[in-house]
Amino acid sequence: MIVILNIKGLCGILDKDILIKRGQDLRSYMFLPDAFLVIKDGLIKSYGTMTEWESVKEEYSAYEPVQANGKYLMPGWCDSHTHLIYAASREEEFVDRINGLSYEDIAQRGGGILNSSKKLAAASEEDLFLSAMQRIDSMIAKGTTAIEIKSGYGLSLESELKMLRIIKRIKESSSLIIKSTFLGAHAVPEKFKNNKAGYVRHIIDDMIPAVAAEKLADYCDVFCERNYFSQQETEDILNAGAKYGLIPKVHANQMSRSGGVQAGVNCNAISVDHLEFVEDEEIAALKNSTTMPVVLPGAAFFLNLPLPPARKMIDAGLPLAVATDFNPGSSPSGDMNFMISLLCVQYKLNPEEAFNAATINAAYAMNVSHLTGSISVGKRADFFITKAISSPYIIPYSFNENVIESVYVKGKKVV
Ligand code: NIG
Ligand code: FE
Repeated sequence: MIVILNIKGLCGILDKDILIKRGQDLRSYMFLPDAFLVIKDGLIKSYGTMTEWESVKEEYSAYEPVQANGKYLMPGWCDSHTHLIYAASREEEFVDRINGLSYEDIAQRGGGILNSSKKLAAASEEDLFLSAMQRIDSMIAKGTTAIEIKSGYGLSLESELKMLRIIKRIKESSSLIIKSTFLGAHAVPEKFKNNKAGYVRHIIDDMIPAVAAEKLADYCDVFCERNYFSQQETEDILNAGAKYGLIPKVHANQMSRSGGVQAGVNCNAISVDHLEFVEDEEIAALKNSTTMPVVLPGAAFFLNLPLPPARKMIDAGLPLAVATDFNPGSSPSGDMNFMISLLCVQYKLNPEEAFNAATINAAYAMNVSHLTGSISVGKRADFFITKAISSPYIIPYSFNENVIESVYVKGKKVV
């Protein structure tokens, strides 16, 4: 049993039955001032005010409490979109972009995803595993306690399985919630350069069955974009994956109105991610769906893309989640705190909306909002305690300043 006392503010309290927040509801982010929290068997057992503590404290007299004077306790961030398994950084492309080339220009010359794919094929499974674990450790230190990880730098049956087996090993060796996504349709590999239809068939006929046979993925994702995969190809791949129990996700509308949002909604995707090119039609499509729109402010920032209309989407009553898109090409950062700052500064979300986007809704985007993403009795004790700060608004306000002091995953202090 762990007892935490004198918490300046216990944040993100939510009824356990609420699995998603939409529209106006995103504004509420309940917190209890001057609070205690009790953890048992890795789960949240109870919480209340310090006044209430007085009447129950006898029960816990055997336990040495953790004191959190002046500090806030907040549910851990959930990062529902990462590509954190990669062999090497791509700073040379970063400089090419500074000098005028676009992300798409670089991809056309065989850079971008194909560059990472070549490097991944040459790297050992052990090195890829170790570097991924290092990235995860630095994400945990910044308050992230649940992570989705994609394949997609394999682009051949062998290399895609290699990536997914690494994710499986990460699942087995980490106490975090880890979810795995098959992203064979991330780009058309060199070998199928003039035969995209052939690659799509290979994904459907060979890759998906092989991934499913080894139970290597929870989700199937497609990069639905011009020069990548069309709306029709996206739907064909997602439907094929769904037959094997892989839940659809989409990289949608990052560079253009690609039909990715509609593909996701048509296939009951759990999320559609990116959304830089979204208009009323896409918002209407999302309106009566169970699909979570996810923005990736790190990628829009790093590639200098137009911003998704996040404010407009929430005002239209939609839910919204945020993720890092941690990858070497478009978002070399796994820092959810910075994403929250960008949401506030650039996307005009209030801090409460940004916190909900990074916790309960982000958990929904990886099907774990019944387990984590809020302070609720019975949920996993996945949270962080800040340094002594004046209010949680300091997180987006003091951007690039780490205000997180300790992190607990399933009730165990890991930082
Ligand atoms: O989410 N948009 C496609 N995929 C990644 C970028 C991957 C890369 O450039 O390596 C993204 O931004
Ligand atoms: Fe991505």
